[in-house]
Amino acid sequence: MADHASRQGHRYDSPEILAYLNELHAGHDLALASAFAAPELHGLPAIQVGMSEGKLLALLLRLSGAKKVVEFGTLAGYSAIRMAQALPVDGRLWTLELEARHAAVARGNIAAAGLSKRVEVLVGPALGLLPTLEPEGPFDAVFLDADKGRYDLYGHWAAINVRQGGLLLVDNAYYFGQLLDQSPDAVAVRRCHEEAAQAFDTVCIPTPDGLLLGIKK
Ligand SMILES: C[S@@+](CC[C@H](N)C(=O)[O-])C[C@H]1O[C@@H](n2cnc3c(N)ncnc32)[C@H](O)[C@@H]1O
Repeated sequence: MADHASRQGHRYDSPEILAYLNELHAGHDLALASAFAAPELHGLPAIQVGMSEGKLLALLLRLSGAKKVVEFGTLAGYSAIRMAQALPVDGRLWTLELEARHAAVARGNIAAAGLSKRVEVLVGPALGLLPTLEPEGPFDAVFLDADKGRYDLYGHWAAINVRQGGLLLVDNAYYFGQLLDQSPDAVAVRRCHEEAAQAFDTVCIPTPDGLLLGIKK
């Protein structure tokens, strides 16, 4: 039925259905609500993951028993809080953020969520931060959600630094509908997909902009 529908290009969701399901299955506590609202409140771009995508990240981490997680792209800390809430008390999440202003807002939200001991926000270009992070590895999961033009390099890093059986999660896997373009950023996202398909057992989950999921071989 679903296959037939998608072959025909039909969708059965609607904004009302999605809002109902987001609230029912992926509702916010106070900390998540503040972090979700924070980008708009602080004049940052409101480009955080959606409610259901955030909850999906959390459930995947729980299912895999992840304890050590790296996130590329913090923004105001919404996905970091979602993921950190899914970790055991001795779990650690390192989240990498280029913009000091974003990192400051995120640190406030993470502290308000009571997660400052579990989450470390590292500020700077992600590639420059990785060498200091590597001794903490291998990692149980890596989530890519930063600049798409470096997804190839981030994906390569993940292929080396995620343990066998660990997870790779990549947001914007459809690259805003431009995945098959010839722009340098589209090529980088495709390279990320292609390397991931070699090093991980993969599937692309059809969230609004695609979420690549891989388990390290
Ligand atoms: C889509 S937002 C992250 C959203 C966040 N994961 C969430 O769902 O709540 C992307 C973030 O990546 C950051 N970023 C962009 N280029 C970066 C780089 N080279 N290194 C680290 N962070 C970067 C941006 O400043 C922005 O805050």
